[in-house]
Amino acid sequence: MQLARFLATMASHAAAAALTPRVSRKVAVIGGGSAGVVAARYLKRGGHEPTLFEAGATFGGVWAPAPTNDVVYKSLRTNLPTVVMQSPDLDFAEGLPSYVDAEALGAYIERYAAEFGVDAVARFGATVTSVAPVDGAWTVAWDGDGGCRDERFDAVVVANGHYNRPYEPEIAGQAAWLAGGGDRSVSHSQRYDEPSPYAGKAVLVVGGRSSGVDLARELRGVASWVYVMEKKCAEPYGGDGVTHVPVGAELSADGRMKVGESYAPGPAVDRVLLATGYVYDFPFFEEEAVDMTFEGRRSCRPLYLHLQHAARPTLGFVGVQLSVPCPIPFFEAQALYLAEALAAPDAALAARDERDAWVDARLATVAASGREQDLHYTSAEGDNAWAYIRRLVDLAGAPQVDGDPSWLQSPAFDHRLKTVESVYDDRGRRYPTKPWHDDAYRRCDYAADWAAGTWTVDASRC
Ligand SMILES: Cc1cc2nc3c(=O)[nH]c(=O)nc-3n(C[C@H](O)[C@H](O)[C@H](O)COP(=O)(O)OP(=O)(O)OC[C@H]3O[C@@H](n4cnc5c(N)ncnc54)[C@H](O)[C@@H]3O)c2cc1C
Ligand SMILES: NC(=O)c1ccc[n+]([C@@H]2O[C@H](COP(=O)([O-])OP(=O)(O)OC[C@H]3O[C@@H](n4cnc5c(N)ncnc54)[C@H](OP(=O)(O)O)[C@@H]3O)[C@@H](O)[C@H]2O)c1
Repeated sequence: MQLARFLATMASHAAAAALTPRVSRKVAVIGGGSAGVVAARYLKRGGHEPTLFEAGATFGGVWAPAPTNDVVYKSLRTNLPTVVMQSPDLDFAEGLPSYVDAEALGAYIERYAAEFGVDAVARFGATVTSVAPVDGAWTVAWDGDGGCRDERFDAVVVANGHYNRPYEPEIAGQAAWLAGGGDRSVSHSQRYDEPSPYAGKAVLVVGGRSSGVDLARELRGVASWVYVMEKKCAEPYGGDGVTHVPVGAELSADGRMKVGESYAPGPAVDRVLLATGYVYDFPFFEEEAVDMTFEGRRSCRPLYLHLQHAARPTLGFVGVQLSVPCPIPFFEAQALYLAEALAAPDAALAARDERDAWVDARLATVAASGREQDLHYTSAEGDNAWAYIRRLVDLAGAPQVDGDPSWLQSPAFDHRLKTVESVYDDRGRRYPTKPWHDDAYRRCDYAADWAAGTWTVDASRC
């Protein structure tokens, strides 16, 4: 029944497509990480002519063997299982554990690029230095083997990642603490590789999300003491070499952590390690020239659906959002939408006033919450990432291109996404929030039966 409905929809869309000619555009994709690779695949599939520019030597982005951004530290295992991370069109290699290392994820992205013909449209060692609108099109300049060159494109899709530039707030009392003695220093998790530089030191880790929790856990056996400053903490608590302190706790010149009028338990702090996240960085844009603002560099405006410039629809973005539960399928939904939008005569699936209204409503929501940095947090949207994926697929419409229909447009789509969501929820229930808890969840192994919509977990080691 479901299949019959799908075929009927395809037939009616094929008829509609015959009436509305699709536009094929020449598109520059900036970045060869998972977002850029997925974007190039879907643009090709949608009948466009993408060229992917990658500054590094291979695909993979932060997971590449020699990444341009060395943010992934030595011991890192993914914090999502492979059945959640993978594209439903391509499984991870057999025999891997569910939580893999950077090498396995990098190899997967390479294989994805080869499988879907993205290697044929990539230019490596090509750093995009400028993107400028010219007469309704875009001039893209890049620096590569042959020196600096530029080329005209009909559209641009930005997928340069957003962990390039650390957010490094100053902690209360930091200047007095730094001046107060010894070899005190402040660093950021982006520059962290392994714990030995912190051996025997008392370390203040600032930030309590993925980096904060993982680095505090790793430092625990090596540092003399670990403080974790995070927003869920109201009063100092902890013990056994770890103290949680609230945001607003102050570093004092003698090194101790001051909370209000008293000191938190623990020794003088020797090192501060900021795990405070990142700010957006698009060094190839002049904000005014592209009519964008990057308020405090923590938001990108005006982006309709977080992926398309509301006033300049031929400028697209994949992967801007934070807190994405399944990056590759999520990017696939965004890329599908953008490919369909760019195929429309005016490069958009929604009218200009609808795009503006969406952006205004989104801005009003975050302004009212007082958390402007949440502009691109998927979970803060009233709906969530899963609803967002479904919405994009729905808005993109049924397949209008020949050839390999993606899972996104198949009758099994919703069924499959529900299974991914359910595995993600199970992983969430097992996720530790305190650095003194073991990260045993990473030893769980999941297997999914996509047809049945069921999954099992081997929890014998977790
Ligand atoms: C520490 C850490 C751990 C993470 N763990 C997980 C995890 O467990 N599971 C998971 O699914 N996700 C994880 N993520 C999220 C991760 O960011 C995504 O999985 C994914 O790598 C994002 O892909 P991207 O293509 O958006 O960005 P990136 O991977 O950063 O790729 C961007 C690419 O753009 C290129 N580039 C940048 N500027 C230019 C330019 N001007 N010209 C040409 N090329 C350019 C870069 O060289 C790079 O290759 C983690 C992120 C971090 C920081
Ligand atoms: N695979 C893995 O194991 C792994 C490991 C590390 C990271 N990651 C991934 O890497 C990405 C980045 O994670 P991240 O943890 O580095 O950054 P993040 O998710 O942006 O978290 C940064 C945290 O720091 C907080 N913060 C900012 N300024 C602060 C201040 N002055 N005082 C106290 N807290 C402050 C933020 O609070 P606000 O929310 O209030 O701004 C936020 O909670 C995520 O996608 C994550 O999943 C994965």
